[in-house]
Amino acid sequence: KKVVLAYSGGLDTSIILKWLQTTYGAEVVTFTADLGQGEELGPARDKALLLGVKPENIFIEDLREEFVRDYVFPMFRANAQYEGLYLLGTSIARPLIAKKQIDIARQTGADAVCHGATGKGNDQVRFELGYYALEPDITVIAPWREWDFASRGDLLAFAEANQIPIAKDKRGEAPFSTDANLLHTSSEGKVLEDPSEETPDYVYSRTGNPEDAPNEAQYIAIDFEKGDAVAIDGVALSPATLLAKLNDLGRLHGVGRLDLVENRFVGMKSRGMYETPGGTILLVAHRGVESLTLDRGAAHLKDELMPRYAELIYNGFWFSPEREMLQAAIDKSQEHVTGRVRIKLYKGSATLVGRESPWSLYDQDLVTFEEGGTYDQRDAEGFIKLNALRLRTLAKRAARGAKQ
Ligand code: ARG
Ligand code: SIN
Repeated sequence: KKVVLAYSGGLDTSIILKWLQTTYGAEVVTFTADLGQGEELGPARDKALLLGVKPENIFIEDLREEFVRDYVFPMFRANAQYEGLYLLGTSIARPLIAKKQIDIARQTGADAVCHGATGKGNDQVRFELGYYALEPDITVIAPWREWDFASRGDLLAFAEANQIPIAKDKRGEAPFSTDANLLHTSSEGKVLEDPSEETPDYVYSRTGNPEDAPNEAQYIAIDFEKGDAVAIDGVALSPATLLAKLNDLGRLHGVGRLDLVENRFVGMKSRGMYETPGGTILLVAHRGVESLTLDRGAAHLKDELMPRYAELIYNGFWFSPEREMLQAAIDKSQEHVTGRVRIKLYKGSATLVGRESPWSLYDQDLVTFEEGGTYDQRDAEGFIKLNALRLRTLAKRAARGAKQ
């Protein structure tokens, strides 16, 4: 067996690496991606070498631009939020990692792929639906569902026996589990498991406390072209650098914290803490440009489709015909979503304060309370009468019924 492992370089995936080599007897190919998680990738290479992976079997890729351009931005065109709030930061990264693992499996002649997600969560589903959609006969190895380790202690003992370096702070129980990329950091488990307890301060890594944010509000301008953000304060930026810049601004002003109890695809509820500083600003900004440029019919239909689209991404169906159908409709709606918005950042909030667009459907002459223009107020009488016809008929029947 030759296996492509999604390898972070951390303790858990290092244990998986060793387990694949020893218990499974597999040749391991490691794949480490820079998705903007803010960690050096050099140590992952060194560690893979140390654990006996051949140099030609070590793959390290900077995927930041591809991640934002081809996954995050298409998703933001839909204003996707799972269960009304979650900006899907972990969910949207999984299909890209799965795709790259399959690419590398083909390149290296590997017949299996492996991930470090547990058997209780969403991520296993997302990785594996991705693998199977792209390579139907691939062998999938999910160590957390397969191995005999019963406790953290067992894992650490295995690591020790196999000369896997264990950082001092990893010797005890991990205080909580995190997943990070350019879009967000999520934290779950342990100190967060009791949903009645407020998240302790030390859990946050991507945002300052809004209470300590600057007392002075900051205004920024974001330009959009066909639904995608392209510039901040008039400076054109690539997708990944733009999101990174919004993250810096969001961090400073404490924007984008979310404490959520959500429904996992596998059936249980879980409590998570999310920090999505740039994404939270981006959502407000995108909706701002849409408010001027989308027709009501398109805008409302899009909002109806959004929960379905978000659920598909949450459940791991990025590579599915139904996601692609919805994406085509959403992308079509963005043809005129071009313009500039101004956002005010202040103590945890990102507020839309101004919007303009060359494609604006907003007509000041039409809406003004001043006299004149093309709108004839007398037209409204018939409009209301016909709309009231059903309601009047119902009211008359109710009155008849009351007399009987
Ligand atoms: N609940 C989130 C999701 O399903 C995040 C999962 C991964 N997060 C983590 N801290 N391990 O998308
Ligand atoms: C995991 O179970 O590996 C993380 C949480 C999730 O996937 O929902």
